Amino acid sequence: MNTLSCVVSPPLGLLAELTHRCPLQCPYCSNPLVLDAASAELDTDGWKRVLSQAADLGVLQVHFSGGEPMSRRDLEVLVRHATQAQLYTNLITSGVTLTEARLAGLVAAGLEHIQLSFQDVETANAERIGGLKGAQSRKLRAARLIREADVALTINFVVHRQNVAQVGQMVDLAVEIGARRVEIAHTQYYGWGLLNRASLLPDLGDLHVATSDVEAARERHAGRIAIDYITPDYHAYRPKACMGGWARRFINISPAGRALPCHAAETIQTLDYPSVRDMSLEDIWLRSEAFNRFRGTDWMPTLCQGCALKERDWGGCRCQALALTGDASATDPVCELSTHHHLLRAVLQEHPRIPPPFAYRASPRR
Ligand code: FES
Repeated sequence: MNTLSCVVSPPLGLLAELTHRCPLQCPYCSNPLVLDAASAELDTDGWKRVLSQAADLGVLQVHFSGGEPMSRRDLEVLVRHATQAQLYTNLITSGVTLTEARLAGLVAAGLEHIQLSFQDVETANAERIGGLKGAQSRKLRAARLIREADVALTINFVVHRQNVAQVGQMVDLAVEIGARRVEIAHTQYYGWGLLNRASLLPDLGDLHVATSDVEAARERHAGRIAIDYITPDYHAYRPKACMGGWARRFINISPAGRALPCHAAETIQTLDYPSVRDMSLEDIWLRSEAFNRFRGTDWMPTLCQGCALKERDWGGCRCQALALTGDASATDPVCELSTHHHLLRAVLQEHPRIPPPFAYRASPRR
């Protein structure tokens, strides 16, 4: 083991974004605005190589994501390969294309957990947000199939101004479905979420109501379901440890095979992201410039260097710093000590009385 690998821990999880193809068009999608074409996707052998290298590197969990990972016909093959490599497997899906036969194939391949997303509890609003008619009943059917197959299930709701009033009912629905966990995650403002920020960002009053609705649901369903509640950065005064710190715990692989420290990293165009087609995962993780650029604390601006919390928040979010200040190395403007904090407050002031129409996520080229 060389000096570098002694000081850098292996990633805990790998997010395998198998494809950007998706039947939904959610306006908060974390995929980049320029999507990878189907023809550019890594093939089955390419993904198998990535999964084997991940296991060798010390990765424990693989999250199959997209787009909609069910769009890949080789998903069962990849789940089997990950299982044989002793990786814990999680499928992140909208569920709209899940059939009994495919679920049986995934379970036989060793799939251990499914995270199923919903856009709302109200059918009309859910289908308006996701841009797909008939999606809600297909999701409810998928949830039933997953429960019958006895696969561990987490329900995910991305929350924003246009569904935030239903947070309590979201938890109720997850309990009714029989999920072990529900994620109530406020929208993060990158990618399509950033583009649609004026339509999505709740005001402080809505956030307070949602937070107390979550607390009430915790009491109502105590012992029956775990509730993860993720609040929006824009109303905070201290930054979050985005991804647990840049290149500390996670590695993302895009459909075309670019290795990224987070899902929005490609917005930082000054970094050259390596491809798994050209480099091993170990070389990427330990030695690539992109992964080392914001790792640890040495890169931090003077203000952050003197902060007692620097090894707790790891400087917050680099993509957010870029989105709000134009400089990915700036102090995260969420921090109230940042000289850019006023930029965030200005966005909150803008809150339009009637939210503008969504710019729906496009479909990638073939
Ligand atoms: Fe890229 Fe936070 S999303 S560092």
